[in-house]
Amino acid sequence: MLPSPVAEVRDERLARADLRVVLKRDDLIHPEIPGNKWRKLKYNLVAAREQGARRLLTFGGAYSNHIRAVAAAGSYCGFETVGVIRGEEHLPLNPSLAYAVDQGMRLSYMDRTTYRRKHEPDVIAGLRERFGEFFLLPEGGSNALAVRGCAEIPGEITESFDVICCAVGTGGTLAGIAAGLREGQRAVGFSALKGGGFLNDDVARLQQEAYGRVTGNWSIDLDHHFGGFAKRSAELDAFIEDFQRRHGIELDWEVVRMRHGSTSRPGGARRP
Ligand SMILES: Cc1ncc(COP(=O)(O)O)c(C=O)c1O
Repeated sequence: MLPSPVAEVRDERLARADLRVVLKRDDLIHPEIPGNKWRKLKYNLVAAREQGARRLLTFGGAYSNHIRAVAAAGSYCGFETVGVIRGEEHLPLNPSLAYAVDQGMRLSYMDRTTYRRKHEPDVIAGLRERFGEFFLLPEGGSNALAVRGCAEIPGEITESFDVICCAVGTGGTLAGIAAGLREGQRAVGFSALKGGGFLNDDVARLQQEAYGRVTGNWSIDLDHHFGGFAKRSAELDAFIEDFQRRHGIELDWEVVRMRHGSTSRPGGARRP
């Protein structure tokens, strides 16, 4: 569903603080390619088609939502897909990877040392030898084309606002959103990673690659990762439950339900 709807969060605590919070429901864009996944893939798929690519290759951890989304997008748009997964194969496949294989994705496993060097020319050359020509999507899907896709988010919001917030995993979403803001508006990203200080450089680099300049209207909060990537805490779970009760919106639950095929309590959190 595009443009995705906006929904106001009505809460007496916000009213007392004289704040309005409006959610941009990008999670409703598509059941299998939701939220920033679609925003990041859109112009990459156009470029892949224009270049005559038949195959997409990308990287991710064993629970990567990006891997799932690329597998789904490839199957919808007629590309073969290869997912290079960090670490060793574990059988049976977890629901994320099983889903990717169902969509026709070919999986390949890469040891962690090589994975750290995954964007270096010799590693890419080895992958081309093995899989043939491909259009490369980086881990998390964040590149200049992804930033351009994410930059379209603010323009769809007709409500006036001062600050827009998003999660930060690889930085492409924040880089794009900030680039799409109007004068006087700013973006705050919340790092999903513990020790995510390097994300400041990544977001700046992505803006530089996409637009040749870095906008000065964003910052990253590094202190609300709840223990690190995909970690949960009692406080975070309580917030998710309370939010669901008050507003009828399942934060993160859709992803977990897709993964486990049930509405049972989630055991993990969303991953880039
Ligand atoms: C809803 C949502 N917002 C933001 C992010 C962070 O995206 P990025 O990797 O572009 O920083 C994620 C991670 O995938 C996400 O799921």
